[in-house]
Amino acid sequence: MRNFLFISLLALSATAHAALPISAADTASALELAKASGCLSCHSPTEKIVGPAYFKVAEKYEHESDAVDTLMHSVQYGSKGKWGRIPMPPHMDMAADDIRLLARWILSIEKPQ
Ligand code: HEC
Repeated sequence: MRNFLFISLLALSATAHAALPISAADTASALELAKASGCLSCHSPTEKIVGPAYFKVAEKYEHESDAVDTLMHSVQYGSKGKWGRIPMPPHMDMAADDIRLLARWILSIEKPQ
């Protein structure tokens, strides 16, 4: 019985939510930060602009345990060749905590209905 419960819990946590959860307060700060940092001139949560839609980024990395670090690295040092032919410029002057918040927010964004 105990095993059964454990296995059901495991199954639930594996299927319940693909995107990583984030608090409403962090979501609000991340959105402001993304605007202030110019991210939203190339990205939208739901549509491809110059860079990929953020929900697509969340989908691509949903099974990767080091997704936050991967995205932080791409934002800080720039990224090319992962999504298409246009590269993302580096953001070397941003604080690591700010980049982490943006990465966590992006990974929390779900596919639009
Ligand atoms: C000048 C346009 C531009 C700006 C500004 C920009 N990006 Fe990007 N971003 C891109 C492009 C283009 C790609 C795809 C790069 C590739 O193919 O590897 C990308 C990719 C990404 C990815 C996916 C990286 C990966 O490893 O798969 C993330 C996350 C991201 N951007 C977040 C941000 C954040 C956060 C900011 C603001 C701090 C930002 N971007 C600003 C154009 C931009």
